[in-house]
Amino acid sequence: MDLPEQKWPAMVKWLHAFFAILITFEVMSELDMKAIWKRKGELHFRHLLFHAHMWIGMATALVVALFWIQIYYKEHVRSHLFPYQGEYLKNICADISGLAKGCLPATGVRGGLPGLIQGLGLLAVTGMAATGFVMFFLIPNFGAAAPVHFYQIPKKIHDYLSELVWIFWWLHAGVGVVHFVSSPKIPAIFKT
Ligand code: HEM
Ligand code: HEM
Repeated sequence: MDLPEQKWPAMVKWLHAFFAILITFEVMSELDMKAIWKRKGELHFRHLLFHAHMWIGMATALVVALFWIQIYYKEHVRSHLFPYQGEYLKNICADISGLAKGCLPATGVRGGLPGLIQGLGLLAVTGMAATGFVMFFLIPNFGAAAPVHFYQIPKKIHDYLSELVWIFWWLHAGVGVVHFVSSPKIPAIFKT
């Protein structure tokens, strides 16, 4: 069976470009930021990074919501990221046996192993965005005072999911580099 649609919609390409920048900023800023209420002896730069993390995190949450709207309306994008049927599902086995023989999975809107991993990554990022969104409103005066006790619930979930987002970031960006090295051309998802 041929797959119905192979091209990335222009909107998905744009949202992905924003994702690549915003999510990378979010995980990198985490490495040196410090909450403002934990202020003793901290560099101002660390507090600035914390502020940027909160606001850019809210922008990321907006992009996540727009991405889910695309998933809702575009069946082939949905089937790629959540390959639960047909060719999209069969490609997972084909990709795993291909990898065992040393062949990288093909790119494109075809589900398979790349689609499955990207879908799981999107779920983890959605969890981060949702918990971050809640935390934003629980931190008083944009971080000048310590948050209420209830804040620890979304915070712990945010911390836990961050491990999965880091794994996804390294895996997804790493495979992108391997693809580029093995065939140096701009990936279709970045071409408008
Ligand atoms: C949850 C967020 C993300 C989702 C759902 C996602 C999804 C996708 C999809 C569907 C593709 C197209 C793959 C293909 O044509 O087979 C892709 C490619 C790519 N993405 Fe992402 N992506 C996300 C985040 C990121 C981030 C944060 C970066 C930056 C580090 C990034 C960098 C890339 C690169 C470099 C490619 C080209 C990979 C290749 O040719 O194998 N993506 N991504
Ligand atoms: C998809 C978007 C986001 C990503 C990928 C992300 C990523 C991260 C990561 C990787 C950490 C470190 C967790 C750890 O220490 O183990 C973190 C912590 C944190 N994030 Fe986010 N974040 C996002 C959105 C947000 C938003 C919208 C807010 C709004 C308040 C936020 C507030 C925080 C706070 C308060 C911490 C803990 C800082 C501390 O106590 O030192 N994040 N985030």
